[in-house]
Amino acid sequence: MEENSLWYKKAVFYQVYVRAYCDSNGDGHGDLRGLASKLDYLQATGIDCLWLMPLYTSPLLDDGYDIAGYKDLLPEYGSLEDLKSLLDEAHKRGLRVILDLVLNHTSDQHPWFQSARQDPKSPFREYYVWSDDERKYSRARIIFLDTQKSNWTWDEAAGQYFWHRFYPSQPDLNYDNPAVQSEMLEVARFWLEMGVDGFRADAVPYLFEREGTNCENLPETHAFLRRLRRFIDENFPGRILLCEANQWPEEVREYFGEGDEFQMGFHFPLMPRIFMALRSGEISPLTWALSKTPAIPESCQWCAFLRNHDELTLEMVTEADRQWMWEQYAPEPRMRLNLGIRRRLAPLLGNERSLLELAFSLLLSLPGSPVIYYGDEIGMGDNIDLFDRNGVRTPMQWDGSARAGFSQARLQDFYAPLISEGEFGHQRVNVQRQENEAGSLLSWLRQALRIRKAHPIFGMGDMTLLESGNPSVLAFERRFGEERLLVLHNLSRRKQTVKLEMEPGTMPRPEVIYGYAKGMPDFNFYRPFEMEASTYLWLKIT
Ligand code: GLC
Ligand code: CA
Repeated sequence: MEENSLWYKKAVFYQVYVRAYCDSNGDGHGDLRGLASKLDYLQATGIDCLWLMPLYTSPLLDDGYDIAGYKDLLPEYGSLEDLKSLLDEAHKRGLRVILDLVLNHTSDQHPWFQSARQDPKSPFREYYVWSDDERKYSRARIIFLDTQKSNWTWDEAAGQYFWHRFYPSQPDLNYDNPAVQSEMLEVARFWLEMGVDGFRADAVPYLFEREGTNCENLPETHAFLRRLRRFIDENFPGRILLCEANQWPEEVREYFGEGDEFQMGFHFPLMPRIFMALRSGEISPLTWALSKTPAIPESCQWCAFLRNHDELTLEMVTEADRQWMWEQYAPEPRMRLNLGIRRRLAPLLGNERSLLELAFSLLLSLPGSPVIYYGDEIGMGDNIDLFDRNGVRTPMQWDGSARAGFSQARLQDFYAPLISEGEFGHQRVNVQRQENEAGSLLSWLRQALRIRKAHPIFGMGDMTLLESGNPSVLAFERRFGEERLLVLHNLSRRKQTVKLEMEPGTMPRPEVIYGYAKGMPDFNFYRPFEMEASTYLWLKIT
């Protein structure tokens, strides 16, 4: 396979909530033109691919994941022309752009659903999943546990229950209907023709339902997803599909198929274990997750992430670990949501710089392509008083001026309140300040991204865990062809002694590419050595 067709294996992704990013016309809502004006910033930061959250027509009961028109943009975001010119401007800078593709459900305001419920003879009736009996598919779990009691909701007009895995305002599409399958391929075609580089496919495990199963990860679902991939490969080679399946590694593994389903998949079990390791100071949660991570086809890649627009999900940990995570990271009840924690990265880590660096260093050096959530690069805060997951979706903090450089609108017209108080207030935490400060988190991260880019091994290489002789020090080697890297993380808050099990002579000249260790550069790895508290070290072995 041509090296460049594997671009996504080396890419750094950045998740943008466009509404929060930059408002170009002063209506208080971020938009595509606003985002376009920030492409230089993203390029300077070292981002390779943007993932834009849903931009489509929607009543916004699930922030756009409830789609009322698949081929229209919500007017607040701008026009199709604006999107086209954003894509052109991004591509000119070597940046790629993927969109959210919401396959599983529509909004109940979608004309398909409106027709389906009002007219039993409508061709759209069979676009959804109906039943007279709400006990059907009773083995399927409820995902939005805090607010939902059932996956069925009675529809008065239709005189039947309809099926929904998320909010009742999001009826599930019926993938047993071939018309639904073709519609969704056409949706994909529409955006790919416009020039998008692929999709983050939302909530894919739930496409089909079968009695007697938990209605997740079914063979029929995989068959449709492979069909989608085939369609893209045949018509738009080089575009990618990124899988959102909040599942255990063995299940996510299935979504890569034989390299014929998704190119990429989020590593959901790894994410909470990064936080477990950082708080406990022990590597065991990470070594466990890494040892459980199955091999994937050569052309595929994991996506590693620390935070996103949802709660920090704890679905992929044991009950005991979940309780521990809640105690450690969500001491106030309002910080909890469903099976997770609705806080941002910097507040979770107590805004401690060394912990933020450790977290990003793990994100950038472990296998997989990193996905950075907007605002985390400057350590933005959250607002847990806001409803649902909105507390982690507040306006981007560009500068310390009254409106944070986000918008010209009056503050009360902002789509969500700006964070303007305390240690995370925009006066203190903002892009402008950090761009001008050599020692800022942003500057540190930009440097880390530059180094990562200079070493394709971070994206392409395989990984072997090494024995560090210390339960607090994670040591692993990355290898790609002739190139070798040794990466060390001291997760403990104390100085630690490391003793690598290395045959003398196997690592002749380690060269530090990022991080710090006492005694550098005359370091002897064959003897025990010390790592300072909460430090990382990236070494190139030549
Ligand atoms: C995904 C999205 C989440 C959304 C849900 C339903 O999990 O990340 O934000 O609410 O799908 O579409
Ligand atoms: Ca606007």
